[in-house]
Amino acid sequence: MNYRHAFHAGNFADVVKHVVLSLCLDRLNAKDKPYRFIDTHAGVGAYDLTGDEARRSPEWRDGVARLWMTEHGAPDAVRAALAPYMTVLRGMNPDGNLVAYPGSPAIATRLMREGDAIRLCELHPESAEKLREAVGGDRRVKIEERDGYEALGAYVPPPERRGLVLIDPPFEEGSAERRLDFERMLRVVRKAVKRWPGGVYLLWRPIKNIDAVAAFDGELASVLIEELGMAPDKLLAADLWVRDPGRPGPLAGAGLVVLNPPFGLTEHLKAALPWLANLMDQSSDDEEIESGWRLVSPEAEPDAG
Ligand SMILES: C[S@@+](CC[C@H](N)C(=O)[O-])C[C@H]1O[C@@H](n2cnc3c(N)ncnc32)[C@H](O)[C@@H]1O
Repeated sequence: MNYRHAFHAGNFADVVKHVVLSLCLDRLNAKDKPYRFIDTHAGVGAYDLTGDEARRSPEWRDGVARLWMTEHGAPDAVRAALAPYMTVLRGMNPDGNLVAYPGSPAIATRLMREGDAIRLCELHPESAEKLREAVGGDRRVKIEERDGYEALGAYVPPPERRGLVLIDPPFEEGSAERRLDFERMLRVVRKAVKRWPGGVYLLWRPIKNIDAVAAFDGELASVLIEELGMAPDKLLAADLWVRDPGRPGPLAGAGLVVLNPPFGLTEHLKAALPWLANLMDQSSDDEEIESGWRLVSPEAEPDAG
């Protein structure tokens, strides 16, 4: 297990994932009833952008740093879509210098309310220790140093019967490791949705191999719709790429499959994704494919650009 998210914190993929997560939590806050956030692969909680890994890796400079510098000039609909995420970013960087980046646990602790619950799994002992340092003092939080795929079965349905599951595995380099994460994700989601069909689920996946993503999305849709009877409009894939994702090289595209997307999410993403794709474009002049985005729901016409 070599994966360390600190090298990638704040990159384009994190921005998209965390914008979607923040919008979903914000929507869950709209009802009085408490809810639970379950993060199967939590990471260290928060990231120091002045730290060694961030200094050695330029990824956040082409991601969150571009957003930090330009968000104030975005159209109103984009700013509305980014608002919950920006609230967290500003809260962590109160004097205007971007020096800290929230992981999903910090987003949850900053956006969720007093009576809500947060369950975090992190398998890597060192990362789990950092996670405890970052958010372990929050009394809403329980951290387990264990395999999040295995833990999920015991977590759902949560006692509140409302909430969100984030499954955000490392998809480490190497096709075998990546395939394993796709397979495990599919297996645990099938089980979890069977037990708790009403939860919001965010499933992160990289777009390294376009065929592998299409196969995963197709298989997931058939399990959920045909086997478990989920309505097709309860599935939404939100993807963004900053270069041609088909070319070899560093990660160029990523996105989330959202199950039970909260009301208003699609409209917010229709506003934000084209703007973010343009902002975070990293294509070179010789590439035919530039940055882009898509929102896809089975049986509906996709939105893309
Ligand atoms: C992509 S990072 C998570 C980032 C985090 N969710 C965020 O948005 O800030 C994946 C994390 O999963 C951890 N991990 C890897 N395999 C795991 C497993 N089976 N169960 C729980 N955690 C795991 C890694 O150590 C790493 O910290």
